[in-house]
Amino acid sequence: AQLPTEGGSTLGFHGLPHSSGPDSVVPEGYEIQTLMRWGDPVLPGAPAFDPANQTPEAQALQFGYNNDYLDFFPLPKGTKGGEHGLLVVNHEYTNPELMFPGLGNARAARTCSTAAQVRTQMMAHGASVVEIRRENGRWAPVAGGTMNRRITAETAMRISGPAAGHERLRTAADPTGTRVLGTLNNCAGGNTPWGTVLIAEENFNYYFGGEAVTTGAQAAAYKRYGLVRDPQFPWLRHEPRFDVGLEPNEPNRFGWVVEFDPYDPDSQPVKRTALGRFKHEGCTHALAPDGRVVIYMGDDERFDYVYKFVTARPWNPGDPAGNRDLLDNGTLMVARFHDDGTLDWLPLTYGEGPLTEANGFRSQGDVVIEARRAADLLGATPMDRPEDVETNPVNGRVYVMLTNNGSRRPDRLDAPNPRPNNHHGHALEIIPPGNCDHAARTARWEIFLMAGQPGTSAGAAYHRAVGAESGWLSCPDNCAFDSKGRIWIATDGAPTAAKVADGLYAADTDGEGRALTRRFYAAPQGAEVCGPLIGPGDRTVFLAVQHPGEDAESTFENPSTRWPDFRPDMPPRPSVIAIVRKDGGVVGS
Ligand code: FEO
Ligand code: CA
Ligand code: CA
Ligand code: CA
Repeated sequence: AQLPTEGGSTLGFHGLPHSSGPDSVVPEGYEIQTLMRWGDPVLPGAPAFDPANQTPEAQALQFGYNNDYLDFFPLPKGTKGGEHGLLVVNHEYTNPELMFPGLGNARAARTCSTAAQVRTQMMAHGASVVEIRRENGRWAPVAGGTMNRRITAETAMRISGPAAGHERLRTAADPTGTRVLGTLNNCAGGNTPWGTVLIAEENFNYYFGGEAVTTGAQAAAYKRYGLVRDPQFPWLRHEPRFDVGLEPNEPNRFGWVVEFDPYDPDSQPVKRTALGRFKHEGCTHALAPDGRVVIYMGDDERFDYVYKFVTARPWNPGDPAGNRDLLDNGTLMVARFHDDGTLDWLPLTYGEGPLTEANGFRSQGDVVIEARRAADLLGATPMDRPEDVETNPVNGRVYVMLTNNGSRRPDRLDAPNPRPNNHHGHALEIIPPGNCDHAARTARWEIFLMAGQPGTSAGAAYHRAVGAESGWLSCPDNCAFDSKGRIWIATDGAPTAAKVADGLYAADTDGEGRALTRRFYAAPQGAEVCGPLIGPGDRTVFLAVQHPGEDAESTFENPSTRWPDFRPDMPPRPSVIAIVRKDGGVVGS
C-alpha cells in the first residue's frame, strides 16, 4: 500500500503522522515487543527490580540505563544464524532524577546524588550482552543465558595502541598507563569482520571536573574536549579519580573506542587508541578491496570532524589470532570536504605536516591523545555535529548523519554545511572511488537530504517532494540499512527543533524513492531513538528507546511518561524494543 503523496518509494507501510505523546506508536500491521528494560535481570542472582530501593549491587547484575547502540551476534557462533543470538547494548548515561526518589528535577538531582547513588549510576553505565531468541513470533531474553555480561564504569580494561603506556595515561592507580577501570558514555558503536563489537566513548567530559580543569598543565587540552570545573555528573564529590586536580591524566583514558568479544564473557575489553580520542559517536566498518578494514567515525560536537581509520594489514579470515590486534596499527585520517564535491582524507600521522615537535607532538601517542588538535592543524572541515557514519551494503556509499548545529553562522557556511542556524541537521553521502575503495585518500560527496519540514523549515530539501505531513524528519542521529540497502534513520532532538516526537524513518537510497523518508516509529515523551538495527532476515527492527521522560520538570515521582510499563509504582524505563510485522513478514516492505 503506497502512499499517494510518496509514490516511487519501495516502502509498503503507511507513514505515521508527527504526533507526540506518552506512548510510542508504530504503523498499522506492526507490533512492539518490549525486550529489555532498565533493571531487568542480566546476570545470575539479579534481584527483582525495585526502583524505590535500587542499589549498586543490584544494578551491577541488571540491565543498565539509557540503552543506545544495538548489535546482534548470531548463535551458535560462526553460523549466519536465525532468530537467536546475543544482543549487545550500550548504556550511555544516567538520569538520576528519574532513577531515584526524592532528588527533584534534573537540575536539582545533578548535585544531590549520594555516594551510593553515584555508585549505582556507575553500574548503570557501560554495556550489556543478553542472549535473546524469537519463539512463536515473540522476542524474549533466554533465561540464564551463559554468555550474558555486564560491563560497567568499573570493568577492568586494557589500553593498547600508540598511546598505551604514554606518560599522559599514567595515574596513581595505574603507573603503567595500560590498565583502566571502566568505560563511560558509550553512544553508538560498530563491529568487526572478526566478530567483536566496538563501543564508542562519547561525552566523557561530562564526568571529569574540579578547579584544575582551568588551571592545570593540561588546561588547554581539557578545554578542547569540553571539560568544565562543574561537570554534568559531579561524581568527583565521591570518586576522587574524576577530580583532575587529583588525577590529571584520568580523562585522557576516556574518549576511545573499546573492543570486546561478545561471545566470551571473560574476555577483557581493550581501548584501541590508534582510532583516536574524541567524542566518538560510533565506529562502523567497511572492507577495502584488498581486505584492509576501514572504521568510519564521527566526533559529535558542533564544528568537529569526520574520521576514518585504515588498518595497516588486511583482515585474514583464516587467522583469528592475527586479527586480534589489527586495530592497533594503521592510519587515522580526517575529512576535508571541498565545495566542488570532492574530499581528501588527511592522515593524522606523527612527523608529517604540522604534527611535529614544533606543535607539541613528540609521538603518535601525542597525536591520538589530542586527535582534535591534530585535525585542527591539518585543516579538517568543521561539520554540523557528525553522528553515525555508516556504509550502505548495497550501493557502497557512506552515510554521514549531521544532527544539527544551531551555532552555524551565515559567515561560516560551506557546501557540505550549507545552512545557517542548522537546527534540523542533514545527511550526506561519501562516495569512495569505485563505490568500494574505502581505504582511498580521496572520495566524492553529495548531500542526501536537508532535514526539516518542507515549506516551513528554511532550507529543508529532499530528493523529491517528501510528504509534508508524514515524511519529513529533524535531527538525524543514527542509521541502519536493511538488506535491500534502504536507510533507517533515528532522530534525536526533534522535540526541541520541530516540536514533534523523535522517531525512526525509512527511505530508499536509490531510484525514484531516494531520500523520500517515511515515519515508522514515534518515540514516547522525552525519549530519543537509538541503535536502529535491522534484525535477522529483515523481520525485526530493534530500537533502543533512550531517556523516556527526560523533560525539564520530570521527576521520579512525577515523570512526563511512565513508558513502557505505565504502572504507578514504576518510573519510565529506557528499554530495547523489537518491532515486528504481525504477519511475521519483512519489515518496511
Ligand atoms: Fe550520544 Fe551523539 O549522541
Ligand atoms: Ca547518538
Ligand atoms: Ca547505526
Ligand atoms: Ca545525539
